[in-house]
Order: sequence, then C-alpha cells, then structure tokens
Amino acid sequence: MKALLLSLLLPGLLLQEPAKAPEPPKAEAPAPDYAKATWQLPDNAAATVNPTQGGPEAVAAGQALFLKGCVFCHGEDGSGNKNNPRMRRTPPDLRSVELRKESDGTLFWKVSKGIPGIMPVGEKRLSEAERWQIVAFLRSIETVK
Ligand code: HEC
Repeated sequence: MKALLLSLLLPGLLLQEPAKAPEPPKAEAPAPDYAKATWQLPDNAAATVNPTQGGPEAVAAGQALFLKGCVFCHGEDGSGNKNNPRMRRTPPDLRSVELRKESDGTLFWKVSKGIPGIMPVGEKRLSEAERWQIVAFLRSIETVK
C-alpha cells in the first residue's frame, strides 16, 4: 500500500517545477554623486548691489529666518553642525573671516541658489526681501578667528 502511494506521488513530485531561485535583491539606483556639486551663481553675483539698508530690524528678521531654515546645518551661532551623519558635506563656519570678505551679492546668491544635494535653494522658500534680511543677519554675526 505504501509503495503504491509513493509511486502515485513521486511522479507528481518530480514534475513539480524546480523551486525558483530567490530573486536577486533589486539594485538600488546609484546615489547621485554630490561630491563635486558646487554653487551655480549668476556671473554678476558678486556685483549685485544690496538694495536694502540692513539695520537692526533686518538683522532680527534675518535671524528668525536663519533659526527656522538654516540651523539644522549651520548651528544657532553659525559655527556649523559638525556631527550630523545625515549631512553630505560639513558646513563651513559662517563666522569666518573668509566669509566677511564676500560681497553682499555673493552671499545673497549663495543663499538664493544653494547647492544641489548639499544646501537648499533659498529662493524657493524665501522672498527676495527675506534673503536680504538673511544677508544682514550673516553680516551681523561676530567674526571668529
Ligand atoms: C542641508 C544643510 C544646509 C542647510 C539647510 C543650509 N546650508 Fe548653507 N551651507 C551648507 C554647506 C554644506 C555649505 C558649504 C558648501 C560648500 O562650500 O561647498 C554651506 C554654505 C553656506 C554659505 C557660504 C559660506 C561661504 O563661505 O561662502 C552660506 C552664506 C550659507 N551656507 C548660508 C545658509 C543659509 C542662510 C541657510 C538657510 C536659509 C543655509 N545656508 C541652509 C549646508 C546647508
């Protein structure tokens, strides 16, 4: 009886399709290489004239915007958040002397354009007036080093 059962079952078993090999894990889209991404500023960026006067009110408004949209990477004091593993590039110290040498126009356009994959495009979320307020705030940060 057992033999009969087996002979009935075996052919069935043998006819079964061979188990499919497990699918190879789907290849993830290669991460874009942001290592070389840099500023794409208009030619006249450095020469762009600041149409505003700055002043304490602009600085205060710029600081409020900075605390909302920039601290995550630049830190409250502008020194730069160095320990966030999710950041692709370590932000520079915004209190640096080098930064002081940049024109208002350059700062304005850097904040406006950002860097793909590295720093957000400010002009998408901030009005022109707000970006100049941020420049006023950047100018007000005390220089270190
Ligand atoms: C996702 C992180 C991130 C955010 C958010 C961010 N930044 Fe940046 N920022 C960077 C990095 C990284 C650099 C350095 C880029 C480089 O030089 O390659 C940088 C550079 C700069 C520079 C240029 C400094 C220099 O030496 O020329 C300025 C100015 C600046 N950021 C201002 C801002 C302001 C203002 C905001 C908010 C509106 C902001 N950033 C938001 C990451 C960020």
